[in-house]
Amino acid sequence: MKKIKGLTRRALLSGTAISVIPASSFAQSINEGSPAWMKTPGESFNEYGLPSSQEINTKREIFQPYEEYAPGAGVAMTPLEKLEGIITPNGLHFERSHNGVPNIDARQHELLIHGLVETPLVFKIEDLLKYPMETKTYFIECGGNSFYNSNAFPIAIDRTCGSIHGLMSTSEWTGVPLKNILKEAGIKKDALWLLAEGADAGAMSRSIPLEKALDDTLIALYQNGERIRPEQGYPIRLVVPGWEGNISIKWLRRIKLTKKPTYTKDETSKYSDLLANGKTLQFTFPMEVKSVITQPTAGAIPLKKGPVHITGLAWSGLGKIKKVEVSTDKGKTWNTAHIDGANQKLSPVRFRYNWIWNGEECSIESRATDSKNNVQPQRKDWSIKYGLGHLYHNNSIQIWRIMPDGQIYNEYDDLAQNEKWSEE
Ligand code: CO
Repeated sequence: MKKIKGLTRRALLSGTAISVIPASSFAQSINEGSPAWMKTPGESFNEYGLPSSQEINTKREIFQPYEEYAPGAGVAMTPLEKLEGIITPNGLHFERSHNGVPNIDARQHELLIHGLVETPLVFKIEDLLKYPMETKTYFIECGGNSFYNSNAFPIAIDRTCGSIHGLMSTSEWTGVPLKNILKEAGIKKDALWLLAEGADAGAMSRSIPLEKALDDTLIALYQNGERIRPEQGYPIRLVVPGWEGNISIKWLRRIKLTKKPTYTKDETSKYSDLLANGKTLQFTFPMEVKSVITQPTAGAIPLKKGPVHITGLAWSGLGKIKKVEVSTDKGKTWNTAHIDGANQKLSPVRFRYNWIWNGEECSIESRATDSKNNVQPQRKDWSIKYGLGHLYHNNSIQIWRIMPDGQIYNEYDDLAQNEKWSEE
């Protein structure tokens, strides 16, 4: 492909034409010089379509810390750097399971509503499918997302965007508002919390304040238009928008209304936050304001000098995104990024910033501010609040360091990382 002579930097950055193919390089009519796929009939129809075989590397990265004896405990991370827009394809939505994916028979599966209710109720899936539904675009982020940049990893390790931050995915969820089901059962006056439990072999369960259940929590049946996939909670999952991901209980089987939190294993042994002073936060539900540059990112293809389209995602579990800023000079100056799309509450935005890289060593980073004026922190400011090894709720700024050869590395803003660089 040839570049048009005299194409200005302005034209390049406006996205009108990065390169063009002169008309003469392809035949004007279909003849022997036409590509093979134009000279024979194509493939027939598929009952369920799959991505192009050439896109086989667009896949989740799997992490199974106890692979030998508990292969169903771990994560599969969304390849954020390979995706565009805000919606995650269903097959690439991140997965966090504690004891594997249950093979549930949807005809047998039941949802029990009990505890502090006037009338305990049991729903079959076919019953739930008859209720009025609503559709919302929400992100789900695991409480442990970005653990590779947390206090568990004091020295920055080099991984792609998705393999650091890919425990965040976004879908259009369709389901029955939980409040309608709870009202049907009749909420007793002293009910303030509820327990939500999954039908997996780990019986994943969490306590949720009733207020959130009556606000925007969904019993989701559909994800991006189709029935939820097994690893996402088939036949039903709770979607508790904006809050740490494991509260969005998959394979939902039971909701019990209670006076107090239940203090389950999944909110005491895990998903609590060790502070620097040795105390622990028990319940920190919303995922705080965050952004990350998804392109360019650490990875195999070195960056080329010249125009660079910087893009990424920003989200907040506390509201909408107010602004995203991008710095290309180690945080000395910040430039407002363009925000794409609708910018809805508890849904991410795609941000974009056009830049020209002069080929010198530098670093790029993004910083989000939400509608409640929360500003995404620097890693050193985030890190110091928490104890050694703490990994949950890491919403700190991701810095990508670009070297003159175009290679991109993960960088921390604290002393340990600076020492690492000066040694090399
Ligand atoms: Co938390």
